[in-house]
Amino acid sequence: MKTSTTTEPPEATRLRDACVDQLKADEVIVSPAVETVMRRVPRHAFALHASLGDAYSPYAAVITKTGENGVQLSSVSAPQIQAMMLEQAQLKRGDRVLEIGSGGLNAAYLAELVGEEANVTTVDIDPEVTDRARRLLDAHGYTGIRVVTADAAEPIPELGEVDVILVTVGAWDIPPVWIDQLGPAGRLVVPLRMRGLTRSVAFQRVIDAHGGHLESTTSLVCGFVPMQGSDQHDETQILVNGTPEIALRFDDGAPADPHLLDNAVRTPRVERWTGVTVALGEPFSGLQMHLAIDLPGFCVMSVDPQLDTGLVSPRHKGFSPAAVDGDTFAYVTTRRTPDEQRAEFGVHALGPNADTFADSVVSSVRAWDREHRGAPDPHIRVYPAGTPDDAVFGDRVIEKRHSRISLSWPPA
Ligand SMILES: C[S@@+](CC[C@H](N)C(=O)[O-])C[C@H]1O[C@@H](n2cnc3c(N)ncnc32)[C@H](O)[C@@H]1O
Repeated sequence: MKTSTTTEPPEATRLRDACVDQLKADEVIVSPAVETVMRRVPRHAFALHASLGDAYSPYAAVITKTGENGVQLSSVSAPQIQAMMLEQAQLKRGDRVLEIGSGGLNAAYLAELVGEEANVTTVDIDPEVTDRARRLLDAHGYTGIRVVTADAAEPIPELGEVDVILVTVGAWDIPPVWIDQLGPAGRLVVPLRMRGLTRSVAFQRVIDAHGGHLESTTSLVCGFVPMQGSDQHDETQILVNGTPEIALRFDDGAPADPHLLDNAVRTPRVERWTGVTVALGEPFSGLQMHLAIDLPGFCVMSVDPQLDTGLVSPRHKGFSPAAVDGDTFAYVTTRRTPDEQRAEFGVHALGPNADTFADSVVSSVRAWDREHRGAPDPHIRVYPAGTPDDAVFGDRVIEKRHSRISLSWPPA
């Protein structure tokens, strides 16, 4: 039925197998079903214009569309991201699936996994993307997959109830229609942005006294192009000192006055070290999530390398957890320990209250180390906006337009 991979260049087969082998070794692919489909479907045929090497690079997306301001709008997601989300979705034969964000490739994987092309609908807001997806799917024999052009934050025409919704675009909120379209035991896998940090969260639908909510089963670090359309949510950017050298990006709760930090860099930088260390290469995404929830003015700092005058010196110029308190800001950085074996977290603060604010960010890092380090990721629940406080379980609640998202940390 499908295009045979026996007629493809031997190099494509070799690279695809190497890619899958790598993802198995890294424990991204864990199920035989996902392994089989990723070995079977010719990824390079859906990543037009990419070299075979780029198409099969395990951790790299192939960008297919970039907007006027350089923002990436569409891509064939990286094999690692596709495998990770397919594993999170736990698909079974016969499941009915809605994929949000098309490209063709992932829809082909979904059809192979559920065993029935007619059970798969893929939707994209961009007609150029759906045209290409339709063409590529047809060319490779997946004619039964339904491809729809629509804003997926709105009801999809003629879509009945589905068992799984797999969202392959970065969402800031959960539009109510996603929950309405899910069957009673439905699953939703979505790259969800919470306070500027994106996690691919697998949710299970749970019926409760107020109708229902979503409970997370897994949550993993990821990055995605942002959602467009009626549910688009743009971050707010504040420029420190009024110049583009240092930008602070707020997902919510940005200071109303964009010039609040214009004078912050006129006072000397305060530097504190926390004594909290991690082994080199040890992941610490839980610390970022802890800071995002614990610090009221949490934001993400980036430094333009072309304009960098050294006012700030984070370890990672593109992305550092940061926070603002009035006219003062601080960011978290790292330095190598004297034996070069570990990295220690530190806090740099600038502004009139730099001393006090640095201390409170240091306390937050130490609280993570004491209370949450080594614990599983926070449990995430999504309730409809308007759910009363006493029906919302969790340590902290993030308010969105359609939902109240609660997070709670299991004990370490
Ligand atoms: C990362 S790409 C999808 C990748 C694809 N699933 C694959 O096979 O690799 C994300 C897509 O989401 C689409 N998108 C953005 N906002 C959307 C919306 N509101 N409704 C539907 N699609 C949307 C973009 O046009 C883009 O093509």
